[in-house]
Amino acid sequence: MTTRAKPVDLFTPLTVGPITIPNRIVMAPLTRNRAGSGNVPTDLNASYHAQRATAGLIISEANPASPQGHGYPAIPGIHDESQVTGWRKVPRAVHARDGHIFLQLWHVGRISHPSLQPDGGLPVAPSAMRPAGEAATYTGPQPCVTPRANANLTAGAADMVALGGPFLANPDLPERFTWDAPLNTPDETTFYGGEACGYTDYPSLVIAGTGGTRCRGLPGHRSGSRPISGAACMGFEPGAGGWLFPAVSRCINCSGNSD
Ligand SMILES: Cc1cc2nc3c(=O)[nH]c(=O)nc-3n(C[C@H](O)[C@H](O)[C@H](O)COP(=O)(O)O)c2cc1C
Repeated sequence: MTTRAKPVDLFTPLTVGPITIPNRIVMAPLTRNRAGSGNVPTDLNASYHAQRATAGLIISEANPASPQGHGYPAIPGIHDESQVTGWRKVPRAVHARDGHIFLQLWHVGRISHPSLQPDGGLPVAPSAMRPAGEAATYTGPQPCVTPRANANLTAGAADMVALGGPFLANPDLPERFTWDAPLNTPDETTFYGGEACGYTDYPSLVIAGTGGTRCRGLPGHRSGSRPISGAACMGFEPGAGGWLFPAVSRCINCSGNSD
């Protein structure tokens, strides 16, 4: 017999980490390519998000957390002071309308192009696999290139890269160090591929770090992760059989965070 979940009234409050949102409607993050020079958010970014403040929660458009994380024209960044200053006006405008907003961090990995990278370098990605498609650049679509992950890893170019080689299944190294969690035993067949365990290691750790009682990411319960359900993208087909999203969801949907 199948059990059906109890219907939930979307117009009731919900506690999300440290905040309570007035309704359960969450606005999906939407890149608008409207940042100003230097990828600094402008008044337009503030008014775009403020106009949508009646959603219970807004997930902001995505923001590369490092210069190498960029992969599209005119997207806002959050890796230098002027961008941080620019961003402050966005939550201020949303809060002025009693809204709530989370900022989405981003690193596009291989879906980038040298023209969007510092000094015209090759994009950086976990695997040196050329995306099957074109990158969006300031001069229009251009063929994607092969990113430089493997070359650096096999050359042992730097300590962290060398460390990343054997422990590629631990993309969350800083979090592991915080929790004093053990490193995975490297298993090349699971590096960002193969079965679900190649993708679910991080959310599992996040749960383990709290004794299994509550999901936790960054300090203060103020972080979350967004699994994208089954979207094929430029040659990447996550769980074509439909196994990946449920596996990641099971990891994230731990006790105390299942609303
Ligand atoms: C123009 C556009 C920009 C998007 N930008 C982001 C983004 O910045 N971050 C993200 O996680 N998803 C982004 N998405 C994905 C959406 O959040 C959403 O998951 C996707 O559009 C599927 O929902 P839909 O079927 O209602 O359109 C974007 C989608 C579109 C169409």
